[in-house]
Amino acid sequence: MAQLWGGRFTGETDRMAYEFNASIRFDRRLFHQDIQGSIAHVTMLARQGILTEEEKDSIVRGLTDIREAVDAGDMEIDETCEDIHSFVEAALIRRIGEAGKKMHTGRSRNDQVALDMRLYTREHVKETDALLKELLRVILAVMEENVETYMPGFTHLQKAQPTTLAHHYGAYFEMFKRDRQRMADIYKRMNYCPLGAGALAGTTYPLDREYTASLMEFAGPTLNSMDSVSDRDYLIEYLAALSTIMMHLSRFCEEIIIWNSNEYQFVEIDDAYSTGSSIMPQKKNPDIAELVRGKTGRVYGALTALLTTMKGIPLAYNKDMQEDKELSFDAMDTVRDCLILFTGMLRTMKFRKERMAASAMNGFTNATDAADYLVGKGVPFRDAHGIIGRLVLYCVEKDTSIDRLSLEELRTVSDKFEEDIYDAVALKTCVEKRLTLGAPGREAMEKVIKEHNKYLMNADL
Ligand code: ARG
Repeated sequence: MAQLWGGRFTGETDRMAYEFNASIRFDRRLFHQDIQGSIAHVTMLARQGILTEEEKDSIVRGLTDIREAVDAGDMEIDETCEDIHSFVEAALIRRIGEAGKKMHTGRSRNDQVALDMRLYTREHVKETDALLKELLRVILAVMEENVETYMPGFTHLQKAQPTTLAHHYGAYFEMFKRDRQRMADIYKRMNYCPLGAGALAGTTYPLDREYTASLMEFAGPTLNSMDSVSDRDYLIEYLAALSTIMMHLSRFCEEIIIWNSNEYQFVEIDDAYSTGSSIMPQKKNPDIAELVRGKTGRVYGALTALLTTMKGIPLAYNKDMQEDKELSFDAMDTVRDCLILFTGMLRTMKFRKERMAASAMNGFTNATDAADYLVGKGVPFRDAHGIIGRLVLYCVEKDTSIDRLSLEELRTVSDKFEEDIYDAVALKTCVEKRLTLGAPGREAMEKVIKEHNKYLMNADL
């Protein structure tokens, strides 16, 4: 395959060096973006009088035909080409002849690839945002239905205080909402067009960079040509945000795996998202949750790899930067799949509400409320804490719970206990009394749910 840059060379590239250098195997993904960028570029060139209208029309037609042919499967992307840019240019020249050789006027592959990758990533940022929104919808639906589904809240994985399923899911709503905000933020910052930066120092042709940028719906052109060809910050930011999404998914998966265990039995994962064992017939394993948790590592890996690749590169373009693609593509695919599967798993997961409530009852999750009860009867909190601590010890020895003790038993630790203690430590009361904004009490929860519904009505990216 003749090289775009063959003129200056007399010797052949070593076979392995050629393969090592070539990127078409993975940058073929940028095919559509490459064509889109070239159409915008030649449209601008014609408007500036650098190409004639006929030349531009012929190039645009040629590029459109190539896109259709490849999309329809009538034409193969030739993997003997060095990269996707060489393929498109060679295919164009073959198709339309001389005019095709003018497409690359006032452009370098450096600004071309910077543009292609940005266009590709911009779409993915939007897609990630849409998938997060869908996940938030599923979470919110569970919240709306489970304002009175009681369960233990944990600290140190030890039962701590009673809460509700709505409240627990509400925590994840906040996390994925922040993830969406990160998408919006990245989108806004990355949405500038690098095309026209040339190899590194712009070009001598009178390009209209504002116009090119507007053709591809960028907020404007980038303002430094060296930075334009060597900036991959937006990818690093995106990979960091994807890593954070994976961290959130992984924590959620970890909980689901625990809740799905024989010991807990809080939830049942649908058959569609579980698998069996080759040897143990009784098994139904939470493989999807485990895989999502496991794949977090490779997304973190992509972030670490790109940060490391970028750290020692002098300005401006260097071939090191070609390494941005495979790992970013892998991370984007991984997070997309994880979000889709996780959302499906969540949508179909069943809750064993009685098990959840029973678990909240038998773990002394109402001990703080019992102490608060004594405070209400005039006992200083520190003393109340000690009294209830002794009561819990008594219950542990007797294998019972505070609400099952008789009034006489209760009075052995404090004469402040009266009949109303039973209502005060009932699960429902313990939760309902938690009315501060952000707490699980019904009123507080309903206020938050209303906010979330309003938030999900907002426009997308
Ligand atoms: N395949 C290259 C990349 O991904 C395209 C840019 C090549 N530019 C160059 N001067 N060799 O970064």
